[in-house]
Amino acid sequence: MSATAYQGATAEAIRHHYDVSNDFYALWLDSSLTYTCALWAEPGSKEAQLDDLETAQARKLDHLIEGARAGGARRVLDVGCGWGSLLKRMTQVHGVQHAVGLTLSDSQAELAESARITGAEIRVENWLDHQPADPYDAIVSIGAFEHFARTGLSRAERVAGYREFFERCFAWLPPRGRVALQTNVKGNNTVMDKATVRELMFIMETIFPESEIPALSEVVESSEKLFDVVSLRNDPDHYSRTCVEWLRRLRENREAAVRLSSEENVVNYENYLEASVRHFQNRHLGLSRIILEKGR
Ligand SMILES: C[S@@+](CC[C@H](N)C(=O)[O-])C[C@H]1O[C@@H](n2cnc3c(N)ncnc32)[C@H](O)[C@@H]1O
Repeated sequence: MSATAYQGATAEAIRHHYDVSNDFYALWLDSSLTYTCALWAEPGSKEAQLDDLETAQARKLDHLIEGARAGGARRVLDVGCGWGSLLKRMTQVHGVQHAVGLTLSDSQAELAESARITGAEIRVENWLDHQPADPYDAIVSIGAFEHFARTGLSRAERVAGYREFFERCFAWLPPRGRVALQTNVKGNNTVMDKATVRELMFIMETIFPESEIPALSEVVESSEKLFDVVSLRNDPDHYSRTCVEWLRRLRENREAAVRLSSEENVVNYENYLEASVRHFQNRHLGLSRIILEKGR
């Protein structure tokens, strides 16, 4: 671990979630094992008629790869690479020569490595400890930023932790280099009944321990004087729909899911996915896709 104090969730807390069992996640994620909000086609468009989770996940990866201008790049960093879907898409579809993926989960790394993706390097490493041999042309991070600040910190402490991340990205990129970031953010509907507070606490304590999601303003503030925001989308309804799809698949495969984990685990996941559907719909939660460009 680096000399700088890490403000995010510990590796143990990350493993608590992501090391449940690769086979368990394979039962209800799409075939690329992408575990973040998909990008669904515009309602009413021709694409929308044929849309499914697989297609919407690939569309999301393409949106962020293109936003980061990573296509054809020599070296790209994926901070929080999960089971490797972005590494695969970048190297096999977008002509990236060398894609480095960081994860804190041993099970994710094992599975990603077993796919033997040419051009991909998977490292079980915190971004805070990462020391690249060469600079990167682009950086993408999908659904990891939520873990970069642990619960109970003040806003100033969270912003300081996030700034550390953006300073690293700044140092690793060339002038005008881009970061494509997707993260859950706090929603701006602050009217919550007791049941809502209980459900959100359950997600924070039982499902994603030690992680507090940022406010959008914290993401922007922590990147100030380093990066300009090129584009920003807020897509809570896309996450709601993604969770509906995950929940449907989990229920279809419920027996196997219990066998691979436990009844208690499956009930927890059902509750967390059900609550997430509602809280993205109610705007207690938001989903930001942000393209950032180095200001100098
Ligand atoms: C929700 S998963 C998303 C995985 C993948 N990006 C996707 O879209 O499927 C979050 C990922 O962030 C990783 N992560 C969380 N904190 C991290 C850190 N400090 N350094 C490196 N990876 C981290 C986790 O290990 C996990 O791979």
